Amino acid sequence: MKEKLCLLFLSFLTTLTISAWSGDVTIETPNTMLVLHAREGGDLRMAYYGARVANLQQLRDAGADLNSSALPAFGTVDMVQLPALQVLHADGDLNLELQTTDYSSHAEGNAQVHVFTMQDKLQPIIVRMFYKAYRQVDIIETWTEIENGEKKPVTLKRYDSGHLVLRQGDVWITHMHGNWAAETEPTSEALTGGVKIIRNTDGARNAHLDAPEVMVSLDGRPQELTGRTIGAALCWSGNFELRFNTISHKEHHFYAGIDPQSSEYILDPKQKFETPHLALTFSNEGLSGASRNFHRWARTEGMLHRGMKVGDILLNSWEGLYFDIDEARMIQMMDDISKFGGELFVMDDGWFGDKYPRKNDTSSLGDWVVDKNKLPNGLRALTDAARERGIKFGIWIEPENVNTTSELFEQHPEWALQVKGRQLKLGRGGTQLVLDMTNPQVQDFVFKIVDDLLTQNPEIAYIKWDANASIQNFGSLYLPKNRQQNLYVDYHLGLLKTLQRIRAKYPDIVIQDCASGGGRANYGLLPYFDEFWVSDNTDALQRVYIQWGTSLFFPANAMACHINHCPYWNTGGRVIPIKFRCDVAMSGRLGIELQPKDMTDEERQQTSTCMADYKQLRPVVQTGNLYRLLSPYDRKGVASLMYTDDAQQKGVWFVYKVDNYYDQPIPRIRLAGLNPDATYTLVEKNIRVGQRPCSLSGKRFTGRFLMEVGIEVPLREEYASRVFSIES
Ligand code: DGJ
Repeated sequence: MKEKLCLLFLSFLTTLTISAWSGDVTIETPNTMLVLHAREGGDLRMAYYGARVANLQQLRDAGADLNSSALPAFGTVDMVQLPALQVLHADGDLNLELQTTDYSSHAEGNAQVHVFTMQDKLQPIIVRMFYKAYRQVDIIETWTEIENGEKKPVTLKRYDSGHLVLRQGDVWITHMHGNWAAETEPTSEALTGGVKIIRNTDGARNAHLDAPEVMVSLDGRPQELTGRTIGAALCWSGNFELRFNTISHKEHHFYAGIDPQSSEYILDPKQKFETPHLALTFSNEGLSGASRNFHRWARTEGMLHRGMKVGDILLNSWEGLYFDIDEARMIQMMDDISKFGGELFVMDDGWFGDKYPRKNDTSSLGDWVVDKNKLPNGLRALTDAARERGIKFGIWIEPENVNTTSELFEQHPEWALQVKGRQLKLGRGGTQLVLDMTNPQVQDFVFKIVDDLLTQNPEIAYIKWDANASIQNFGSLYLPKNRQQNLYVDYHLGLLKTLQRIRAKYPDIVIQDCASGGGRANYGLLPYFDEFWVSDNTDALQRVYIQWGTSLFFPANAMACHINHCPYWNTGGRVIPIKFRCDVAMSGRLGIELQPKDMTDEERQQTSTCMADYKQLRPVVQTGNLYRLLSPYDRKGVASLMYTDDAQQKGVWFVYKVDNYYDQPIPRIRLAGLNPDATYTLVEKNIRVGQRPCSLSGKRFTGRFLMEVGIEVPLREEYASRVFSIES
């Protein structure tokens, strides 16, 4: 009763808040603030987003009050602005004139959720705009909910998750551009007049090519450790559009949401549509500062299923064997990984299929039964073998896809996405199709793949969930003819529903999110996954670059980084020393992906040293605070990054030589994130087999010296690299 009264009192206060502040609503995190003007009957306006200010009057006095529509709707205000929302009403009207009718705010876990309700002046369309501000991390999520109160279906022609207004100046954006095996290259450019669009239309995977995140540097060319920076991540795994519009000399407008192209969503009467959340951060500490906010949010607020846990050191069979797996080879690999000191073995593609055994990528997806020729004693023999060796066992699946050569396709051809009357467009192996996740029967089937595996083999501790196809056949035999345009969106809603069901039953199983490498590294899926496969490219030199870009938004304990085999086919047979390969993989969740039988003695010894050292360093690497010090993209010949713990007592520092030529200047590296008044010892780790620690190892420096003067690291030979533990 007491609590109820308290709540009543609080909601009374909340109602008062609007009038008490003449309509100003502040949405606050520990160091940031978003200010909105909400006036009953008026348009919701955004005034400010940035560092916290104590007195809002100062914003107005300084002329920093932006006063622009928070959710520009087509028909409400300023028709030259791009709309964030446009609805085609049942009667053909395309306008919305949104009036704020209500504001409330409530606590939800570690956050405060602010809800603004708006209604069209003419038509019964209700729009709720949400802002969720976290109390312990500088992230604000925003999204909308659109409710159709009309008597007939309406069409959401545009339904962005959020919109930000930015003061013009020397504003730069950094977005992740890439490709398969060359993911997440941070691409920076100054914002100029006109419209800039970043979009992905793969359908099923949205982080190859262009990814759904962007950094905005407000103080000129992006810097890692300094400068006001806004980071934005759209938490969605489907097609998206991020766009910047610059129409006057005063403001840039940023919009983020589902790409409406081929997805103008039809909303039935009484139905509500919730857009994906857009997560925003602001930091005064450059790109790295914004990254740290995202990493903390991911790990502490459930946006990465693993949370603060560290990932096991594993061996994955793919690059060592490809499809050539059998029981003897699996057991040999388990022997090897346990001898190296690893903790988990993952059997990748190639283990399944009865009528159509999986010998290559042309068949069997959908037939999730053991291939008895390869594994005569079933999975049980493998989980037993893992247990006997003191390691865990994991398995690969690709549940959302099917090959036309499969028993599943013979039984349920209608479960594949397709267009009646049109020839099927076939993907990988010339036979691969995407299952129709809008269909509840398919959702049940996908759930059952995981459920059967885990109930029949309770010792499976890890699943690698792959997705190697884009949606090429835009058609669902399940969705009605007049709802086909909902397909791209409903596919992902169906996938999310299935993942939620899996997680409700199996909260503890570790699941890797893989999509031909990093094709699904996004915050739409990570709440259900523990980590993602960063890239199908495991060349250590290229990984320095790929992991660099990936770390802009994703924390180290989400990034699966594996030591590969050399010569490496993906980069034309490049050979990189094992020490460099280990050091690069150690900066994320360490693993190994090769046939250990083919390793030299030196490679085996270095790998064992690396794994032993990594176990000591792992908590700081995987859950620490990241400072990117020297970018490989800056072409200084050296790349460097480091992690520190919250108490600034420990750190781990990585240095990689990425170029090699005569008379090469090696930059002095200044560290970051340390306590200036503390004294630290540098201890070299993963020392190259046969070598002694470098001259720096064991030397003591103050945090101030390390951060202000910096260190010259001996990096002589090609592919030289060093890992230091920083100990106070
Ligand atoms: C693509 C993944 O990215 C690889 O790691 C591997 O699992 C293959 N699929 C298997 O087909």
